[in-house]
Amino acid sequence: MLLGINVDHIATIRQIRKAQVPEPAFAAVIAEAAGADSIVAHLREDRRHINDRDVSILREVVKTRFNLEMSIAKDIVDIACSVKPDQATLVPEKRREVTTEGGLDVAAGFRRIKNTVKILEGAGIEVSLFIDPEKKQIDFARKTGAGIIELHTGRFADAKNQKQSDRCLAGLSAAARYAGEMGLKVSAGHGLNYYNVSRVAGIREIEELNIGYSIICRAALVGIAAAVKEMKALI
Ligand code: PXP
Repeated sequence: MLLGINVDHIATIRQIRKAQVPEPAFAAVIAEAAGADSIVAHLREDRRHINDRDVSILREVVKTRFNLEMSIAKDIVDIACSVKPDQATLVPEKRREVTTEGGLDVAAGFRRIKNTVKILEGAGIEVSLFIDPEKKQIDFARKTGAGIIELHTGRFADAKNQKQSDRCLAGLSAAARYAGEMGLKVSAGHGLNYYNVSRVAGIREIEELNIGYSIICRAALVGIAAAVKEMKALI
């Protein structure tokens, strides 16, 4: 199972202070040295965390695979075509959401999404579609020509009890199997953490998990002791 690390929230910490640090690219280099298989960053239309400079630097420093999460807005697609990440993951984007709230509705936006896939693939970028684990979305995703889907694990992660969690897991498992049979590469992500990840990691057809928030939170806590010791040594 491969692990993609989303570094958006290193940029969130920087933006809270409107400062120059911490650099998401620095986090990316450390993550790769620790075994990350790819680095993910979401260039949102409102630039609330990752900005255009981050994307250029990430493109230069990432040695594994750079996976740019993005909407299908024209100016964002233009940036992707010029930066040329290894992979683009198309996600829905709403200005007022705190984080990505659901999968792309590929059925509803089929023509625009298919056209975006064509443009990105024409620029040599592999394309993944972030979708809910539903047969209809998988069918439409395949018809766009994208080679990868990322199953949205948010509903599973937010399950309120064991029964709901089991039901969501079964849905993810069935969707992964169906997509695999159709020849799609399958990844998954959103809301995965140290408590719920092993159940999703047990789904055979899923090749990669993309995780951000829980790992950045964990890093902040496990890093406190070393950071305090370094400051004590200086003063
Ligand atoms: N995959 C996609 C498509 C996402 O939009 C996100 C959130 O940016 C993630 C994975 C990672 O989610 P989380 O930060 O909850 O681990």
